[in-house]
Amino acid sequence: MNHTYDTGIRIEPLSYRSLRGAYRALREAFPNSGRWYCDLLASLNPCKRLGIPRLGGCDFLQYWVAVKSHHVIGVTGMYVVNLTYDNTAWIGWTTVRESSRGQGLGRHLIEHVLSQAKQHGVDCLAVYTSPQHSQAIRLYRSLGFQEEQGREQHLVFREMIANWEARRQS
Ligand SMILES: CC(C)(COP(=O)(O)OP(=O)(O)OC[C@H]1O[C@@H](n2cnc3c(N)ncnc32)[C@H](O)[C@@H]1OP(=O)(O)O)[C@@H](O)C(=O)NCCC(=O)NCCS
Repeated sequence: MNHTYDTGIRIEPLSYRSLRGAYRALREAFPNSGRWYCDLLASLNPCKRLGIPRLGGCDFLQYWVAVKSHHVIGVTGMYVVNLTYDNTAWIGWTTVRESSRGQGLGRHLIEHVLSQAKQHGVDCLAVYTSPQHSQAIRLYRSLGFQEEQGREQHLVFREMIANWEARRQS
């Protein structure tokens, strides 16, 4: 389902039509990694999604784009890995185009993923990030995500869906 965020900004599922815009946004944010391109493509093709060895195969993989005036200004995603049975969904590659940052869109994208995680019936939403992504870390903390032990150079932040819901309703 498409979701109107603010006047003129829509959050909608990634499609082949918006793929090029999503590619540009992610290349701007993560120029040293091309792995996001495989993940975007796999999210559009359920057969490929099963074959991402890095993720152990996903039983859910979806990306969304924030679109304004036909331009992609933000990207986010969510995946659930088959091989882990901890009922956790993970946030995929996420960015807001530099010219659109600091206006609340990043927060809205992550809240969109939290509500998708709730609909998916998982207990928590987690994300890998790294220390240099200080704005993202601030964003996750301000949404209630708690830092936990990460792997190698990664940090992991995790939010219980029930806690997020309780905060939202208070
Ligand atoms: C992280 C990112 C998506 C945030 O997008 P955004 O649209 O600027 O975020 P928002 O405007 O919703 O701001 C959300 C929070 O981020 C922080 N933030 C945003 N802009 C900031 C800035 N210029 N300086 C410091 N903190 C900032 C604030 O804590 C803000 O919380 P607040 O609303 O309580 O003030 C964006 O900075 C980005 O694309 N960064 C590069 C890619 C990246 O790091 N992706 C995540 C990797 S895991």
